[in-house]
Amino acid sequence: MQRIFSGIQPSGIPQLGNYLGAVRNWVALQKSHECIYCVVDLHAITVWQDPKLLAQQTREMAATLLACGIDPKAHILFAQSTVQAHLRLAWIFTCVARMGWLNRMTQFKDKAGKDRENVSTGLFVYPNLMAADILAYHATAVPVGDDQKQHLELANDIAQKFNHDYGVDYFPAIQPLILGPAARVMSLRDGNKKMSKSDPSEQSRINLTDDADTIALKIRRAKTDPQPLPEAVQGLDGRPEARNLVGIYAALTDTDHAAVLREFGGQGFGAFKEALTALVIEKLTPIAAETTRLLDDPATLDGILRDGARRAEAIADPIVTEAERMVGFLKL
Ligand code: TYM
Repeated sequence: MQRIFSGIQPSGIPQLGNYLGAVRNWVALQKSHECIYCVVDLHAITVWQDPKLLAQQTREMAATLLACGIDPKAHILFAQSTVQAHLRLAWIFTCVARMGWLNRMTQFKDKAGKDRENVSTGLFVYPNLMAADILAYHATAVPVGDDQKQHLELANDIAQKFNHDYGVDYFPAIQPLILGPAARVMSLRDGNKKMSKSDPSEQSRINLTDDADTIALKIRRAKTDPQPLPEAVQGLDGRPEARNLVGIYAALTDTDHAAVLREFGGQGFGAFKEALTALVIEKLTPIAAETTRLLDDPATLDGILRDGARRAEAIADPIVTEAERMVGFLKL
């Protein structure tokens, strides 16, 4: 059975893009794969996080993942900082990766903005840790949204260079799994900008914890254009906001853009937005309720994460120990 690894940052409330681009696929892949899912708190601190809030958000993210349908018994769910192997391998990869490779990362450029002198060095080497997350388990498939593609290409470069430098065939190639019609959910305010937990505008995203009224208001206010919806997919070209809303509807109904346009093509946005609102509320409300229920019992939640960490460490420790031997570290 193919082993999958993926992670999500606990740096804010998960939004619809996280769900449709990643977590929903994580849940589905549990049927056919051995899955390891991780709340990546080490990645979160590459930008400042209030310590109390970080601990709370790590639990909240774990609870949300469980509420979405991650099965912590058949698979593994844990917090990244509780498994040492990630950091041990990340350091080795930081010595394998080249400055030039990291300099090309568009996400670093976006996050660092103009003030490069003042961002943490962690933000720069972020993709090395991501490569270590995956390769510490010899995972070969990684379900992510479209925005993580470049990081996974870099992880493959790192794996290949390690194998080449040490004359081994140790780390496998990684296959990105970028699945479904909503692999890149866009902001509700700007169809050319990714929906993000960290966007300052609340109106730009739907949070998995939003109540029905909030969801309805955000969708009603979502930016659109004055044309009715097109009859065919090509009609979405040059209409990023329309494409985005149709993609969200398609993902939530397990269809594609064409099927949604067969139903709504030719109609104005009013009726479509109403149908979309009902659908989003129907899908998200149970997740929010279950998340709240799980957070009411932090001891059980911590127990699940502790058990996940123990099982994750049991897989990753021998793999990373072997890599350390290949590098020439004493194993006393
Ligand atoms: P993060 O926390 O930003 O996002 C978690 C997952 O959600 C996807 N995603 C989206 N998909 C579609 N549309 C959007 N607007 C959208 N926004 C976010 C992301 O692609 C991601 O799959 N670096 C990663 C976390 C990570 C990781 C890993 C992932 C750390 N180690 C190892 C895979 C493997 C991140 O910051 O995701």
